[in-house]
Amino acid sequence: MSVATPYLELDLTVVRARLVELRAALPGARVFYAVKANPAPEVLAAVADGGAGFDVASPGELDLALATGADPGAVCHANPVRTPADVSAAHAAGVALFVTDSGEDLAVLAERAPGSGVLVRLAVDEQGSATPFGGKFGCSRAEAAALLGRAGELGLRAAGLSFHVGSQQTRPAAWAEAIAAAAAVTSAAGLPRLPLLDLGGGFPVRYREPVPPLAQFAGAIRQAVHGCFPHDPPELACEPGRFLVAEAGVLHAEVVRVSHRHDGRRWVYLDVGRYGGLAETEGEAIGYRLRTARDGDPSATAVLAGPTCDGDDVLYREVVLPATLRAGDRVELLAAGAYTASYASVGFNGLPPLTVRCADTHADTHADTHADTAPMGAAR
Ligand SMILES: Cc1ncc(COP(=O)(O)O)c(C=O)c1O
Repeated sequence: MSVATPYLELDLTVVRARLVELRAALPGARVFYAVKANPAPEVLAAVADGGAGFDVASPGELDLALATGADPGAVCHANPVRTPADVSAAHAAGVALFVTDSGEDLAVLAERAPGSGVLVRLAVDEQGSATPFGGKFGCSRAEAAALLGRAGELGLRAAGLSFHVGSQQTRPAAWAEAIAAAAAVTSAAGLPRLPLLDLGGGFPVRYREPVPPLAQFAGAIRQAVHGCFPHDPPELACEPGRFLVAEAGVLHAEVVRVSHRHDGRRWVYLDVGRYGGLAETEGEAIGYRLRTARDGDPSATAVLAGPTCDGDDVLYREVVLPATLRAGDRVELLAAGAYTASYASVGFNGLPPLTVRCADTHADTHADTHADTAPMGAAR
């Protein structure tokens, strides 16, 4: 049966396999899956099954995580920009671990979530990341040391440090540098031992370019932890998003129109674009691999655009596609399981949110969900 496009097809077997791979690469590390990457209930159930907890950024994400039956103790609230009401709701639900990066947020946590553990997020070098945070989160080493000290005075538990080296980070040294910074903060804070070090997300996947294998990142992490914390290393945690779900997803689209414009360029319009879930094509940060049934025909450059009336709804300004491509042809965007359905507009130009179809190639089951069943508000 041919399914109407656009839709995201997700193979849960791949999600499970990535989780196994990650746990083997970082043995003993706690895994908090970053719900924002793909909040489909089937994905959350698969990662919970695999023993992971959740990194949530909003009450909506917390509800989704807890709906899997997850213990609130396996949830980390990792968005340091949140309202007092968000903190109260998380605390009431039993969440006891929060990432923070400011004195303002620490005061709110002390009032609304007394006794909770806090991980102080360090600002780190994001060079090598395709989608950096650009200074939006994290504090300096001096501030981090001060916040760890203040946490105890305010009746919170200084649980440790966290960082995020930027998503789709291709430089293993980014983690080594951040771990060294965490060790310096531990000394500056006068802690005899850092209890927990959260390595964040950022582990990359293959889009158009190959990326180093996970083993290289894990090796750099292991070496840095041993070198920087030789006597009593911290417990480790991580918050993977993209790594667990991207390669599990294929976004099925269709060509709506091919036009040769007055500027001499060929424009290929798909039935999915920037607002239908392909937000990470902004600035061409993420270059999805494209597959069509006409691959192998003579090819030529084209502008690839989405279907809406918005001038920014352009995916790639110059991409090579079969010259024979025409309206009605299917186009597949590969490794599209992360940050697509969760970014899809609820109805820009009257277009529905991206449908997600989950299959388990082992269990051979299918289920449909829509992005709008997963309220977002996630910061990235
Ligand atoms: C706090 C936090 N943790 C984890 C992640 C997941 O990162 P990634 O998808 O690069 O693994 C994000 C993504 O933006 C994030 O904001």
